[in-house]
Amino acid sequence: MSDYAALPQIESEGLARIHSTTSVDELAGVETDLTGRGSVLVDLQRQLGSLPADERKDAGRQLNATRTALTSALADRRAILEVAARATQLEAERLDLTEIASGPRRGHLHLVTQTRDRLEDVFIGMGYTVSEGPEVESDWRNFQALNIPFAHPARSNHDTLYLDYGDAETVLVRTHTSPVQVRVMQTQEPPIYSVMPGRVYRKDTPDARHNATFNQIEGLVVDRGITFGDLAGTIETFTKAYFGPDIESRLRPAYFPFTEPSAEFEVTCSICRGSGCRTCSQTGWIELGGCGMVHPNVLSTCGIDPEEWSGFAFGFGIDRLAQMRHGIADMRILLDNDVRFARQF
Ligand code: PHE
Repeated sequence: MSDYAALPQIESEGLARIHSTTSVDELAGVETDLTGRGSVLVDLQRQLGSLPADERKDAGRQLNATRTALTSALADRRAILEVAARATQLEAERLDLTEIASGPRRGHLHLVTQTRDRLEDVFIGMGYTVSEGPEVESDWRNFQALNIPFAHPARSNHDTLYLDYGDAETVLVRTHTSPVQVRVMQTQEPPIYSVMPGRVYRKDTPDARHNATFNQIEGLVVDRGITFGDLAGTIETFTKAYFGPDIESRLRPAYFPFTEPSAEFEVTCSICRGSGCRTCSQTGWIELGGCGMVHPNVLSTCGIDPEEWSGFAFGFGIDRLAQMRHGIADMRILLDNDVRFARQF
């Protein structure tokens, strides 16, 4: 049998190889094997000239038929593989123009600021205005005008940070928001219904329930005929508005030099709802702040006639309120600036 008799087999094996290729690169390899310079087809082509003339014509026709079959199969296969490769590439590079880019993450107000805003809203809803004062204060407004002269024992509770400014111990960072009461009474005519939020400072060692820097909100009412009953009713109304209907408030006798009589104001422990737990030392109550009827000395020092006007004041910690409402075990985390904490609120 001449080599040319193998052409049908070369063709069928070649076609099978072409059809089994899965990539353009693989097909290029097969093409070189089947039709390239070292291929059987090229060898046979070369040998054609040495065939006797009568065989040459037949062999040439067979050879051409096989080459045509293989080259057209190669071209068909290449077209198929190229389309597939393009589709894969398009899929990989797909760009969804309808996708919404998320953009930079926006921050939000700190929990303490949110709490302060919420408290202001509650009091504004009760007809109060919001007043502010500076964090650097005179000893006079922070203490003396509030019935706390030099050497008064109440000063020792305040752990005051004095500034190295002016005469010794005359300028300080305020230890409470009560000096803003003085500012309001000195500049406004009664009736006064105002709350005074702000940052205060004490020379305290931070622990789970204290920071050396914290926030208070002070309330001041001065009007005709104001009684302790008005104070108690206001505290109760505020408690319900802020914490909800199942939290109660109560007043317990206390002492502040600038109010008389004075009370501490407590609310149902929000952790145990009054049944007693570790946070409230098993009492069912949590102390939020102080309050009382504005002392006549304070009214007259600020230019208000205590015979004509009377009033009450209260003050409590904003940070403590945030702690209560959100069950924050350790207050120090409020100042840590840890975004994992801040993001939760
Ligand atoms: N200023 C007091 C404090 O910081 C709280 C208070 C305010 C008490 C108003 C009575 C009236 O301890």
